[in-house]
Amino acid sequence: MCGIFGIVTATEQPLGPILIEAARRLTYRGYDSVGAATISGAKIDLRKDTGRVDEVAAKYNLAEMSGTRGITQLRWATFGAPSQVNSQPHLDSDGDMVGAHNGNVVNNVELRKMFMEEGLVVRSQNDGESCVHAVERYIDRGLDFIEAIRRANDDLQGDYAYVIGRINDDKLYAIKKGSGLVVGIGDGFTCVSSDLPSILPLTRTIIRIQDGEIITLWADHVELRSVKDGSLIERAPEEITETMSSVQKGGYAHFMLKEIHEQPQVAREVLHMLAGSSDVQAVVDQMKNARNLYFIGCGTSYHACLAGAVYFARLAGRAVIPVIAPQFIPQYLPTVGSQDVGLFVSQSGETKDVLNALYAAEKQGMQCYGLANVIGSTLTKASICSLPLCCGYEISVPATKTFTNQIITFLYLAYRLAGRDTRELDAIPGLMEQTITLTTPQVQAITPDVNAWEDCYSLGYGTTYPMALEGALKLKEITYSHCEGMLSTEFKHGPLSAITEGFPVLFSVSPEDVPVIVSGINEVTCRGGRAIAIGQENASLRANASDLIVLPEASPEISSLLSVLPLQLLSYYMSVARGYDPDFPRNLSKTLTVD
Ligand code: G6P
Repeated sequence: MCGIFGIVTATEQPLGPILIEAARRLTYRGYDSVGAATISGAKIDLRKDTGRVDEVAAKYNLAEMSGTRGITQLRWATFGAPSQVNSQPHLDSDGDMVGAHNGNVVNNVELRKMFMEEGLVVRSQNDGESCVHAVERYIDRGLDFIEAIRRANDDLQGDYAYVIGRINDDKLYAIKKGSGLVVGIGDGFTCVSSDLPSILPLTRTIIRIQDGEIITLWADHVELRSVKDGSLIERAPEEITETMSSVQKGGYAHFMLKEIHEQPQVAREVLHMLAGSSDVQAVVDQMKNARNLYFIGCGTSYHACLAGAVYFARLAGRAVIPVIAPQFIPQYLPTVGSQDVGLFVSQSGETKDVLNALYAAEKQGMQCYGLANVIGSTLTKASICSLPLCCGYEISVPATKTFTNQIITFLYLAYRLAGRDTRELDAIPGLMEQTITLTTPQVQAITPDVNAWEDCYSLGYGTTYPMALEGALKLKEITYSHCEGMLSTEFKHGPLSAITEGFPVLFSVSPEDVPVIVSGINEVTCRGGRAIAIGQENASLRANASDLIVLPEASPEISSLLSVLPLQLLSYYMSVARGYDPDFPRNLSKTLTVD
């Protein structure tokens, strides 16, 4: 995910402060690089680098930039490492056009090769630059901007939106194909952005752009045209009346629900990133040759480590030691050395428990890699290399989308280690979408009954064991009730004594483990307990469980990932029904930088 913003004004004016503020408001979409360009007459002023908005703004004095048109971009690296040259906006070959994009141009590698063969000046690996060159080629052949963008649309594959401008012109141009784009119309200016938060402080008159539309922005009006045939599109502007906070939640009641629903999209982004990343092979090779391999994290990230260890053993025959970070030093530190590899997993990249383990392991010579969401965080800088989770900002304290992208990354690495075709994983985003749609009403139906209890258990087996633990953590975090996660077969060794009439027990079931789970279900139901199964449609589950929350059909590993989605939804709906704010649960913090 990245963020773009462009503005056109009637007269030359300081645009730097407007671009900085717009970038700040898009920070949630990406924060490893920032850039700004202003166009004034025959001059383009372009300043960009890696870092956060305020760092780059201070270092390059973005505030002093002025012009009649301005573009800013927040980058979340997918094509090309975070670096100054890969930062956006990008110039065309002779430097008289400038543009920036949001999204993924999936044939970027092929396009760059073609551009270079044609003699265009390609400066970066970034696919945003490909958007600029794709338009440049047709402008050079004498086409006007709209025609050039239409022709470029046939060449650029993938989902994206971009904004582009040229010297000695009074307009900006933008196109939407798959990525978000909104236009703002103000007094003496128009603007375009990936999202409303950067527009609303300037104007509340907006036009929502649809896929396949090209926008021309003048200072006093905008024009929409169809990319298909260039025809004019009439669309009346609308007035936004919601508060900024509800706009930022994208129409959802809470960030947590928004982030649950974002999971299929960020899953697509991480799969795309992994497929194009040169770091993946290096990490896989190190893992292959390691004496011992450790996955280390805390909280939700530790549950992802547990799942990763299950996938690595089952899919690639590689044993892994999953460790809760603070236990790494007392238990394993004396045994590790340079032949060992550690993957340190953290959404924030700042969890002190994880960093303590990392620094101690590094001192012993262990090879330390990272898996983090926040690019530029301490973990990403301290490890040999760090794979990004590509989730954008996760605002809600309970981790959701970062957990599922950790799981997908582990699955992907296990597939690569096993030499299996990773394209099998491309089905995941669609299956996640189906799961959210299918299970939401089923979860809502059982919420009042589970919510009547202050205690419950969340059980799993094999691939679903880590998911059951994660579901229990979500319930504890935001419902303030007690929920214990455990291996389903362990339940009979003690906790079974808790069962009374109606006591809820959640069972996450992978298709291959139905018989063992059905035993556990019967131990609960024959004592009056309520066994709520989460799994694929199955006659035996249907006959034995009190309730069956139905998942779409998938392999055991992918099915285990899907089973966590209804658990996230259940905890969310229970929390809201109890009158709590799931985004900011009491006593908890998103990032724990203390021991
Ligand atoms: C805190 C958060 C948890 C999170 C854990 C690890 O306890 O409340 O939700 O799972 O830290 O965070 P990390 O950023 O390292 O993944």
